[in-house]
Amino acid sequence: MTLSIKECAEKLHRAKNIISCLQAVDTTDIQDFVYLEIGTCFKEDEGLSTYVAARFLEENGLGGKVFSHEMIPEHVEESRKIVRKYGQELLSRIEWVIGNSAHTVPETLKKVDTVDVAFVDGGGHPLFSLFEFEALWEKLSLGGLILVDDCNYLPPSPAYEGRRDYGKAQLIMPFLMLMEYINFQPGVIAKKIGKLPDSAAVIEETLAITTMTPFMKELFGNDRIRSIASQFQDMDFAFLGGNQLVIGRKKAIARLRNDNPKLL
Ligand SMILES: C[S@@+](CC[C@H](N)C(=O)[O-])C[C@H]1O[C@@H](n2cnc3c(N)ncnc32)[C@H](O)[C@@H]1O
Repeated sequence: MTLSIKECAEKLHRAKNIISCLQAVDTTDIQDFVYLEIGTCFKEDEGLSTYVAARFLEENGLGGKVFSHEMIPEHVEESRKIVRKYGQELLSRIEWVIGNSAHTVPETLKKVDTVDVAFVDGGGHPLFSLFEFEALWEKLSLGGLILVDDCNYLPPSPAYEGRRDYGKAQLIMPFLMLMEYINFQPGVIAKKIGKLPDSAAVIEETLAITTMTPFMKELFGNDRIRSIASQFQDMDFAFLGGNQLVIGRKKAIARLRNDNPKLL
């Protein structure tokens, strides 16, 4: 029994967002598509991310591979069961990598030229997600996208035993806010909107800052953080439904917005 992309999207919000990212990547010049995720599955039929990415490649006749990183071997077994149940033929496209992402993700990144879509969904602590994000950004293809689950704290859940006292994007967000601050120059915005900005225009241009205001004060005074953020000049991002954040180069995010006009 096959589960189509459309059925996956209806079943789970996370699957729907992964599909939106996969669809937004221009595959014209891609020979071997690389999807890389951290966090495979936490319970049967909830762990659809690996399956849905492999099914997408198959349904769209794309070459390439799915790399799924998971530290709990039983979770990989659950994911294998899902793939066996809905698409035995996809098994050869998937490489499950067992271990701590801090070790396994850099190892996988050495093996691939670029990453086209990444899903940062490991949990644990946002420092891991920030580390993963930095490593992924270096290898992201020009049109690639990095999807991060949970911008904010999540309440405890009986479905997941791991810690969730922070959102995975919680330490990535401040860098995006700094990027906006550094890119914010009245002259730059004036060029875009044809007049000097008033506060309403500034609010439109500073999505991260206006969303995450409480962090701003300490961060903007920190030279090290400012110098790191200034490396991300060509970066842009959007918020997807279900508390998820997606980051890519300006052109890639513009494509995503084009396909999904309601995105924040
Ligand atoms: C939310 S679940 C992943 C769900 C899956 N991506 C989906 O959409 O169905 C998070 C998973 O990340 C794993 N995980 C947490 N920290 C990790 C780390 N540092 N390295 C590898 N896996 C990790 C957990 O064991 C858990 O299985």
